[in-house]
Amino acid sequence: MPDDARDHPEVVPLAAPLGAEIRGVNLARRLLPATIETLQRAWRDRLVLVIRDQRLSDPALLDFSRTWGELDPPGPNPYGQPFLPEHPEINVISNVVEGGRPIGNLGAGEAVWHADMTYVERPPKAAILHALEIPPEGGNTYFASMFAAYDALSAELKQQIAGKIAIHDASRNSAGLLRKGYADVADVRETKGARHPLVRTDAATGRKALFLGRRRNAYILGMDVADSEALLDALWAHAGSMRFAMTHAWRVGDVLIWNNLAVLHRRDPFDPASRRVMHRTQIKGEEAIE
Ligand code: SIN
Repeated sequence: MPDDARDHPEVVPLAAPLGAEIRGVNLARRLLPATIETLQRAWRDRLVLVIRDQRLSDPALLDFSRTWGELDPPGPNPYGQPFLPEHPEINVISNVVEGGRPIGNLGAGEAVWHADMTYVERPPKAAILHALEIPPEGGNTYFASMFAAYDALSAELKQQIAGKIAIHDASRNSAGLLRKGYADVADVRETKGARHPLVRTDAATGRKALFLGRRRNAYILGMDVADSEALLDALWAHAGSMRFAMTHAWRVGDVLIWNNLAVLHRRDPFDPASRRVMHRTQIKGEEAIE
């Protein structure tokens, strides 16, 4: 009997517009195809999966991540080199500084609502985050369904954004730090980054999602800057509503997997004197966003 035959995945939807807890799996073992299919179906339906009590080494995190598709290496970080040179496909999210050097990204401050790497043509479709060290309080992460946010837009706003394209800023990360090799944006019409429609249609289901990426330095092509700012402000105020969101309070051993093309996430700040360490992978998107 393969050792993975002991997995009995159970999908427990969270009491929120998105999210499901998966019980009965050990991600450190090779999973059966049927288990992988159950996880992927739950991810397609619920957009965020929460799997508790896992202990994944970096190679095991990479093996599990590959069951979701081709790995997509992290974007450039503010320090210009991978945090784990032996595993450059893994990003480290941490406030810890060792020997005067941050061991990871994002520090201890708030990470504002965003989706990951939408400033490239084919943004990652999924992100996987494994909690290794967690502070006693703070640092919760929130996920909002952009399908639900689109559905709840007024008919007028839906009409206003139909066919519109926005620039997604590549210069700063979600903690506001300038990435290596980028300059400050003085005029949002000159923002460097991919251009994507404000509304993305899911290839599998035909469902529409708001596709916003990140607010800072965004610009809607062809509009006056002031009109673009006003429309983006209205969309972001709507999209970040907790009506469309779930909250995740982390425990050591958690693995979260989210649909990066249909979900925004943000993180609360936490005490910089405490330690928070997470290892993260992401999976290449199959599509240019059209
Ligand atoms: C992220 O924005 O990918 C990090 C989320 C977190 O630190 O919880």
